[in-house]
Amino acid sequence: MAKRILSGVKPSADMMHLGNWFGAVRQFVELQETEDNYIFIADFHALTTVHDAGLLRSYAREIALEYLACGLDPQRTVLWRQSDVPEVCELTWLLSCATPMALLERAHAYKAASAEGAEVSMGLFCYPVLMAADILAYQADLVPVGEDQVQHIEMTRDMAEKFNRQCGSEVLKLPAHRVNQAVARVPGLDGRKMSKSYGNTLGLFEPDGALKKKVMRIVTDSTPLGTPLDPETCHVFALHKLFGGAALDELRDDYVHGRIGYGESKKRLLPRILEGLAPIRERYEQLRQDLDYVEDVLRDGAARARLVARATLDACRLAAGFADPPRR
Ligand code: TYM
Repeated sequence: MAKRILSGVKPSADMMHLGNWFGAVRQFVELQETEDNYIFIADFHALTTVHDAGLLRSYAREIALEYLACGLDPQRTVLWRQSDVPEVCELTWLLSCATPMALLERAHAYKAASAEGAEVSMGLFCYPVLMAADILAYQADLVPVGEDQVQHIEMTRDMAEKFNRQCGSEVLKLPAHRVNQAVARVPGLDGRKMSKSYGNTLGLFEPDGALKKKVMRIVTDSTPLGTPLDPETCHVFALHKLFGGAALDELRDDYVHGRIGYGESKKRLLPRILEGLAPIRERYEQLRQDLDYVEDVLRDGAARARLVARATLDACRLAAGFADPPRR
């Protein structure tokens, strides 16, 4: 039987980057072939960092467009905006009451923000509970993500278990994560995880010239030309690896025999990125001409997603001790 797949991307920047594509969205596209795919735009989550209404709206629409450009097919994937299904907020409350604060205090994102001395909103602190509600509302079996989200899925399981135990009823299904280990942590221009918040990204839809400048900025050491290079520690090589193929073996050979310098390796990387992303970038340009279609897809997806979330919420309300579901 097909598995229920659930995942999302947070619209907190103007476009997705290579980390989102290789770590997550490519998996979504592959899974729609055989599984029951539910993919959404996590705009409630983006509100933890984006506080400009116009920007939030445009970032969210942009992710929708990009999902479609990446190959998600509305016939095979339910696609919607998180904020169009308010049931997740009510479920967040029910789960909050089964979630120890100590669990949330262990969340990496919260710990990093407080270590930096940033002001932590309740939204950021409760981020994992909203994420659990997203996953549990849709009775997901499997959540495809990059490595940085695994802790959230483990916390989701903890919350679901506790809620079920408190209610004495198995209303919530425990999900598993799915990480593609080869691309679990795509590095950025500086070798740290590629991330919007580190400003080290290569955007999927950036103009060729901007991508070229960024590729030339990838951080390398000062090994002189003619000296062997270590492919395992080189940030440029790590990005080449994403695209695989015979060219990669050739490049590895050139590295270990000192036949290539970092500049040349960067020059070879750019066309590989452009070629690898060409179909997605072309579809993106076509879809941009028909934004009404994108809105239609989201409206239809929200209606379908909402039915599932409503049924889960009704069951949870009853299990937790509330009266029959409110009339609507
Ligand atoms: P977000 O928007 O930060 O990232 C979206 C997806 O991309 C993956 N990813 C990466 N994978 C490999 N290497 C990288 N450098 C890299 N950067 C990002 C992420 O792991 C993620 O899978 N909290 C989530 C959104 C969310 C969600 C959910 C996800 C909200 N509710 C429910 C799954 C299920 C987030 O901010 O992802």
